[in-house]
Amino acid sequence: MPSFLELLETHSALDAVFQEHQYALLHFDFALALKILQEYRSLLEAHMADEENLLLPLHGERADIGKDGGKHLFLFEHEKMRRRLKLFIEATESLFTEKYPEAVILRLLDREAFYNRLCSHHDIRETRILYPELDKVTNETERTEIFGRLIAARAVTMPCPTVSNTAVETDLHQE
Ligand SMILES: [Fe+2]
Ligand SMILES: [Fe+2]
Repeated sequence: MPSFLELLETHSALDAVFQEHQYALLHFDFALALKILQEYRSLLEAHMADEENLLLPLHGERADIGKDGGKHLFLFEHEKMRRRLKLFIEATESLFTEKYPEAVILRLLDREAFYNRLCSHHDIRETRILYPELDKVTNETERTEIFGRLIAARAVTMPCPTVSNTAVETDLHQE
């Protein structure tokens, strides 16, 4: 039986892509770090669009919205995430011409750690409030139909260049 809690897999997939961006930073591979971060942003935008266009309106229509369950809080956090990502992309772009990239990387990782805490707080509210309530107020047929319309659940399965893959490929070429 489909459940909206399956979207937690999308959250985990997004976290994994973001972590690959951080690994690339630690390897001083700025081009890869930027490419993965841009990829992460489009995947996150697709997921947030699913929530903003399909899930939150449905939640607003049918669920008994209590404290912390209102649409505006989810939207407010999405906006915060968008604003921070824009800054991370700018900071990563600046690394190409930076004379002392180490300092920028440290500052960037520090801000990204704060961003990760924001995301995890957001995930908790969706896990405890949004997704279980949507399960309660929809039937199986509706859930199947809605899942068919979700873009991000499909998008996160797209191949993404990763540091781990790059390292594996390099090892293979050296053998
Ligand atoms: Fe989400
Ligand atoms: Fe969200």
